[in-house]
Amino acid sequence: MDKLKQLLKETLEKITRIKDTGALQDLEVKIIGRKGELTNVLRMLKDMPEEERKTFGQEANKTKQALQEAFDEKRASLSSSMMKSALSNIDFDITEPGIREQTGHIHPLAKVQWEVENIFSQMGFAIMDGPEVESEYYNFEGLNIPAHHPARDMQDTFFIDKEPDKKQGRLVLRTHTSPVQVRTMEKYGAPLRVIVPGRVFRYEATDASHDTTFDQVEGLLIDKDISLAHLKGVMEEFLTRLFQREAKVRFRPGYFPFVEPGLELDFSCALCGGGGCKVCKKSGWIEFMGAGMVHENVLKAGGVDPKKYQGWAFGFGLTRLVMMRYAIDDIRLLKSADPRFLKQF
Ligand code: DAH
Repeated sequence: MDKLKQLLKETLEKITRIKDTGALQDLEVKIIGRKGELTNVLRMLKDMPEEERKTFGQEANKTKQALQEAFDEKRASLSSSMMKSALSNIDFDITEPGIREQTGHIHPLAKVQWEVENIFSQMGFAIMDGPEVESEYYNFEGLNIPAHHPARDMQDTFFIDKEPDKKQGRLVLRTHTSPVQVRTMEKYGAPLRVIVPGRVFRYEATDASHDTTFDQVEGLLIDKDISLAHLKGVMEEFLTRLFQREAKVRFRPGYFPFVEPGLELDFSCALCGGGGCKVCKKSGWIEFMGAGMVHENVLKAGGVDPKKYQGWAFGFGLTRLVMMRYAIDDIRLLKSADPRFLKQF
């Protein structure tokens, strides 16, 4: 009994003097751990006479309990004072709300462009690029747009202030992605299946629906026995996948010098499905793009034999598609880099 009392007294004193949790842990193991001093005392119980065993056992258990409490209390007080001293080294207010990390994200134009590229890739189209600063030859002449065509008026085109090349003419900011048609045919010959997303430029007064800079997607498919039925199939499939809703397309006659016959393609309104709504102005159709069978002069310019191969081409406004998708009512916002606009996507 005396031994027990002494162990309790000494241990409690030691606990008071301890200053770190490591030492506390060591002492705890040493006294009430599996091979600890008190545990050893408890083991002696079984060799004691019945009567003694009872009172000694009770006392020993009380001692163990008291020590366990003392250890636990000390541990709690040590860790709270550690926390306090850690906090006292911090010279800012940890209760103040944090500053949210600003992260960027994909621009809506790029996002839709990737979707378009994915769908056409899945249909076997390669993705091509071409120069934004283009020669007059590729931008116009090679596309069967002769010098007298109104599209070559100064009003429509930004010219680069440089001596014209004898063969290629002046340098222009390309007015459409169509010049890449001829470049691609020259480079890869026939058969071909490509799309060309890219930035184009027009010398234009800007307003909510016109900008000097916008994005188009050109398409070109050249092979044997190609007809407009293939174009219809490809575009219905493309638009159905893009809007994730069954799309129909229709052709109307249209004129572009680089196709013959030329046409305008409309698709069934993705909002109302063709029933008529505000977006399609009650017509059920949305004007989407120009297209047609590639003019034989364009095939020739690309070095493709029109007797062996034919194909179709199309060009649509990626910018307009993005505006439609997100109901953006001012084209100028897209290139504005205005965070109030961009934050919404
Ligand atoms: N390049 C034309 C434009 O910018 C669009 C276009 C029409 C492209 C018909 C084509 C096409 O490939 O066949 O308005």
